[in-house]
Parts: sequence; structure tokens; C-alpha cells
Amino acid sequence: MKIVNSCPEMRDYSRSLQKNGSTVGFVPTMGALHEGHLSLLKIARRHCGRVVMSVFVNPAQFGPSEDFEKYPRQLEKDCELAENAGCDCVFIPSPRDIYPENYNTYVNVENITGALCGASRPGHFRGVATVVLKLFNIVIPDTAVFGSKDAQQVIVIKRMVEDLNLPVRIIAAPTLREEDGLAMSSRNAYLSAGERADAPLIYKGLTEARELYEGGERAGQSIKNCVVSIFNRSRLLKLEYVEVVDTTQLKPLDVINRPVLIAAACRTVETGTRLIDNIVLGGDLD
Ligand code: PAJ
Repeated sequence: MKIVNSCPEMRDYSRSLQKNGSTVGFVPTMGALHEGHLSLLKIARRHCGRVVMSVFVNPAQFGPSEDFEKYPRQLEKDCELAENAGCDCVFIPSPRDIYPENYNTYVNVENITGALCGASRPGHFRGVATVVLKLFNIVIPDTAVFGSKDAQQVIVIKRMVEDLNLPVRIIAAPTLREEDGLAMSSRNAYLSAGERADAPLIYKGLTEARELYEGGERAGQSIKNCVVSIFNRSRLLKLEYVEVVDTTQLKPLDVINRPVLIAAACRTVETGTRLIDNIVLGGDLD
């Protein structure tokens, strides 16, 4: 497996693959890989001749009081895991390569970045859209795979790709979960034992909401109440939001009459870890 640190070398590598008739699949990550990330590599592998993964903890998407400094970093282990999952090349740029001195250009995807996670993380999606566009320009992939676990992120990236006519196909991949239902996340490593024990309640709330929906319930508020009541069983999970929104504009749905995203975020009380999860009903993010 190839490891590339410089932007020009990365672009040359992709160009030479494409010149030889291979397609390039791309999985951007911030490292600290788990099975969820590896599942994206496997999906990219199925669609493309070659697979590139990036590892870059992007300072522009972290708020001043967020976990940028303590975000887990384990490059060697990540490269080993990626290679075993069929990755051909890992791109590991330095912050200076991505944001050189006098850097001044940012991408703002409007309207859909202020709701849900955008409400409590101002500037987060500006940082995500900016780095993803830059990575697309450096890696020049044919296809890029993102996890549905970060549903708003996929929706924002798809909007950007369409709005800016970017020649990349975006695939939204299913969320990988621990056996008890907790969505896999690099941040799960922060949880205390008690928080880890309660964390599956997030997905339990969402699955009970799904059952209500499948039983015919279409009132957005009833679906929300169901998720909230399950969160309230834990004193260690502080709910940040539960939203019932459409899957393109992220507008709240009082009556569910189209594909719906039920998204929740909470913060844990002991370690202050932020956890998110979601389900999509009546359609998908693709
Ligand atoms: P990161 O949190 O490292 O996630 C990288 C990719 O893995 C994202 O597309 C995310 O949705 C996906 N992912 C995370 N947990 C998953 C799970 N349990 N199942 C399936 N996929 C999962 O998301 C980012 O990095 C960054 O914002 C990035 C896009 C790299 C831009 O900096």
C-alpha cells in the first residue's frame, strides 16, 4: 500500500491510475479507524479499481472548545487496518499543506448547515465542506464514499457536489453498529463505563420510533416524543436535539409524507462526549 504525504504527488498518482483506465474510489477520514470506516473502504473497492483513503484531522471543522487536540491519532495502526481492508493508497497531508499561511477560502453550503448539528457547532460544516472540496481537488476521485451515520454531512456534501458541478459520485453507506446497537464512532473511546452502558439507548429510541412509524404513526411530534422518552431513562445522556426532517432540505416535518430523517444528538454527563445517530424511513440518503 502506498503512503502519500504531498498534494502534488497525490494528484499525480490518481492521474496516472486514471490514465491507465482505472477508476479511483475515495474515503476521507480523520483516522482512529474502526469497522465503520473499513466498511466504507470495502464499498469503495466494490465500485472502483483503486481505493484511496485520506487521514486528516481537520482543524477547520472543530470549534474552539471542541476535541481537536485530544482527537485520537494512531497513524501506524490506521495504515495497517486500511491495507487489510483493501486500500491501495493512504493520503496523509500535514495541516500546513492543507491550510498554508494566508489561507482565506472557505465553502459555505447555505440553509442546510444551520440546523441539527450545525446549530450547536457553528462553522463545523463550513470546515467539512472546505476540506472535502480540497481533498476532491487533490485526490480527483471518480467516486467518494461517506457514512450515513453523519447524515447531515452526506446531505451537505451531496448538495455541494451538485451545486458546484463536481464530477464525483457520492455514495452514502450504511451505519455500522456495535452488537448492542451503538453506532461505531472514534469518540466512543472517550466514554466512561456508565456512559457506554447507557449509550445504546440512542439507537433504541430510534428503533422504537421506526416501529411507531411502521405501525402507521405519521405525526412528527409523536415520533420525537418517543425518542425523547427513551433518552430520559438515562441520567448520563443529555439530549441536545431530536429532529424529524426531510432528507434534502432538512426542514421539520409535522406530518411525515416523504422520506424522513430522524436524527438525534446528545452529550454525555461524565466525559462530555458528543454522540450522534439517525435513521432514515421511507427512503434513503442516496
Ligand atoms: P470521520 O469521523 O473519521 O469519518 C469518516 C467517514 O466514516 C465519514 O464518512 C463517516 O460518516 C464514516 N463513519 C463514521 N462512523 C461510521 C459508522 N459507524 N458506520 C459507517 N460509517 C461511519 O466524517 C469525518 O471523519 C470528517 O468530517 C471528514 C469527512 C473526513 C472531513 O474531515
